[in-house]
Amino acid sequence: MAILIGLGVIGVTAAIAYIALALPDVGPAPDLKIKSTPQLIARGRYLANHVMLCMDCHAERDFSLYAGPPRPGTLGAGGEVFDRSMGLPGRFVSRNLTPARLADWSDGELFRAITSGVTRDGSALFPIMPYKQYAQIDPRDIHAVIAYLRSLPPVDNALEPSSADFPVSLLINTMPVKPSFRSRPDPADRIAYGEYLVTAAACAECHTRALRGKPVGEYLAGGFEFRMPDGAIIRSANLTPHATGLGAWTKAQFIARFQAFKNTPPSPRAAHQAQTTMPWYMYAHMHESDLGAIFDYLQTLPAVDNRVTVFSPPGP
Ligand code: HEC
Ligand code: HEC
Repeated sequence: MAILIGLGVIGVTAAIAYIALALPDVGPAPDLKIKSTPQLIARGRYLANHVMLCMDCHAERDFSLYAGPPRPGTLGAGGEVFDRSMGLPGRFVSRNLTPARLADWSDGELFRAITSGVTRDGSALFPIMPYKQYAQIDPRDIHAVIAYLRSLPPVDNALEPSSADFPVSLLINTMPVKPSFRSRPDPADRIAYGEYLVTAAACAECHTRALRGKPVGEYLAGGFEFRMPDGAIIRSANLTPHATGLGAWTKAQFIARFQAFKNTPPSPRAAHQAQTTMPWYMYAHMHESDLGAIFDYLQTLPAVDNRVTVFSPPGP
């Protein structure tokens, strides 16, 4: 018996040592030299600001305004906090992506961090940074984003490091992924292209209910909870084609819902208006044809009956 327990302890110790020391194991950063062109930077600017929203999370969002647009001057500089109030196992701080921090990173190191979740020194990133989605898109789109990041004005912004709670502080090493890239579908193939954009935009990160960073709800059926600093709770909408979701919506209504934020400057929310974490101002500038493809794809999802109470005001 004692021997069995002893062997068990050795097994557990070996497993812990393996996770702590041998992982993450996604291989070395690729040998990559991106040839930057104005077109590539423009594509990267579009993706980073209006589709993949790197510039939304890697900025400080100003929730004194409706939909929390990034504070001017913090774009790309990081500092947004994702923590236990969102049900996450720790406190994760988005990092500075401007050349002030990344100038001496190689393109390959950046590429690996974005698509595998392993940072320059080999440590793992928590998947609130949507690298699992970025691992499934076209490398050419990642190259474009990197070319754009290189073109940002440097912003000095020293940030507190992220910290994960035990045991996630250990298990985080099992989270990085080896990418499984694919080519960007032809935009004429509306549904495949829409699915590609939904993956790149990581809509599911907010629109699939999750607990401690793990999805527990039906895909894109909404109900993910955000607890705001004032105690209010905001829940994401059901995007499936059920009556409790986007079932009754037309494509024109869907596009108009986004574009309503295109030409209006961010403003404090009106007294009757509930706050939201949905980055409306950033997505508002997505190309109309891209928004249309997203709608076409969402309409092909299984319809999930999930009536979401979007807003609960702070309790007494
Ligand atoms: C949902 C929010 C979110 C989005 C969207 C997002 N990130 Fe992140 N990113 C984070 C957080 C939070 C961290 C820190 C994670 C940690 O500390 O474990 C991070 C870390 C990183 C790192 C590691 C930097 C370092 O200093 O180690 C890079 C590089 C990065 N992100 C690039 C990007 C790019 C490029 C995009 C867009 C394609 C992007 N991120 C989109 C939240 C986000
Ligand atoms: C940072 C979190 C977040 C991300 C990322 C996000 N959403 Fe949302 N979304 C929300 C929340 C919260 C709501 C509910 C509050 C509101 O309507 O603004 C919402 C609402 C919506 C609505 C309105 C539905 C209605 O009934 O009025 C649509 C449409 C939508 N999201 C689509 C998307 C799509 C498509 C993506 C990806 C391109 C996406 N969202 C990404 C958080 C997010």
